[in-house]
Amino acid sequence: MFPTFATCLLALVPLAFSPFTQAATHDVTVGGPGVLAYKPESINAAVGDVVVFHFQQKNHTATQSTLANPCVKADGGFDSGFVPVAANSTGPFPVAQFKVTDTKPVWVFCGQGTHCQSGMVFAINPGNNFAQFKNNAKSSTPGGTASSGAAPPTSGAATHQVTVGANGELAYDPPEVTANVGDTITFQFMAKNHTVTQSSFADPCRSLTFTSTTGKVGFDSGFMAVAAGATTLPTYSITVNDTSPIWVYCKQTGHCGKGMVFAVNAVDSGPNNYTAFKALAQQLNGTSGTSTGSAPGSTATSSGALRSGVGSGGFVLAVASAVAWLLC
Ligand SMILES: *[C@@H]1O[C@H](CO)[C@@H](O)[C@H](O)[C@H]1NC(C)=O
Ligand SMILES: *[C@@H]1O[C@H](CO)[C@@H](O)[C@H](O)[C@H]1NC(C)=O
Ligand SMILES: *[C@@H]1O[C@H](CO)[C@@H](O)[C@H](O)[C@H]1NC(C)=O
Ligand SMILES: *[C@@H]1O[C@H](CO)[C@@H](O)[C@H](O)[C@H]1NC(C)=O
Ligand SMILES: *[C@@H]1O[C@H](CO)[C@@H](O)[C@H](O)[C@H]1NC(C)=O
Ligand SMILES: *[C@@H]1O[C@H](CO)[C@@H](O)[C@H](O)[C@H]1NC(C)=O
Repeated sequence: MFPTFATCLLALVPLAFSPFTQAATHDVTVGGPGVLAYKPESINAAVGDVVVFHFQQKNHTATQSTLANPCVKADGGFDSGFVPVAANSTGPFPVAQFKVTDTKPVWVFCGQGTHCQSGMVFAINPGNNFAQFKNNAKSSTPGGTASSGAAPPTSGAATHQVTVGANGELAYDPPEVTANVGDTITFQFMAKNHTVTQSSFADPCRSLTFTSTTGKVGFDSGFMAVAAGATTLPTYSITVNDTSPIWVYCKQTGHCGKGMVFAVNAVDSGPNNYTAFKALAQQLNGTSGTSTGSAPGSTATSSGALRSGVGSGGFVLAVASAVAWLLC
């Protein structure tokens, strides 16, 4: 997907803005190991300011959209195109610049896979509407890619059994299930003191109740303390109400950061797969996905996941930090 850049000044410019009096530069980090987000998520900027997107690991875009359709490129909007960055890259990272020309809100999303539906959005001067924008993004249906969101058909309801902490391990067994709408998932708690707590892909180790922008209350079994050798094992069940992925973690101190996470209907052929979710939980070490910086350290997935090759043909990838695109 190539934006029409005919009217756009595409230029290589040095990263120096001293000629622009008063103009400020706003740095935004895009992605990074296991991070499906722009950081910060929104900024307030004055006319003349420059927003510099620093593309980190994986393969993201910065694409302009609208409040109503967060995951669809706006007519005439700017688009960085895909900017692949190898998992083992240590920088310098490619950058793209956007110059702020008025005070109207500018809505931005990542055009990769279902990143936008996972909440990978950004805004300049959003006013009070950022939460609405992100909410719209998360509830929008992925367009184009037919494979994402492909759901198993509804049929006779089944019950899926999952053990929690079997053999003293910090794990759910199995770690993920595919379930139809109407199915029940029953968790059986083995010895120790675990939970089954709903989170989100972007923030694996925090309750959805605290991260949802729609006010959704995530389910939570609460702590299930089970004595060693107990003969009666408590259970907790959830009903699968729709085909969206369900993300779960154990909220006992340290467990999520050690990878004690679970998923229902994760799309394993897409970016929001179980492996990526677990890796993000471990990378964040149980901390908030929104309050930590784009942490260096362990990469979310093996570097083999990134195919080499030419990215969006026609684009100049500015791999030196002294070079940037001017998007308009
Ligand atoms: C990164 O990985 C690729 C492919 O595995 C390899 O060709 C390249 O040399 C690596 N680069 C660095 C900086 O390690
Ligand atoms: C279970 O863990 C929670 C949180 O750490 C703690 O408050 C509670 O006392 C524990 N229960 C038992 C019986 O150890
Ligand atoms: C399904 O809906 C019921 C009733 O609204 C709710 O209690 C339950 O938490 C929902 N299940 C999931 C997995 O969100
Ligand atoms: C991960 O978190 C645990 C506490 O949950 C802490 O003890 C440990 O030092 C942390 N590890 C890293 C590498 O930050
Ligand atoms: C799983 O997700 C990661 C991170 O988004 C991605 O790199 C990897 O290719 C995905 N796996 C598959 C099989 O698509
Ligand atoms: C980046 O993502 C785009 C869209 O999914 C894909 O066409 C392109 O091949 C990817 N580039 C690399 C190097 O993975």
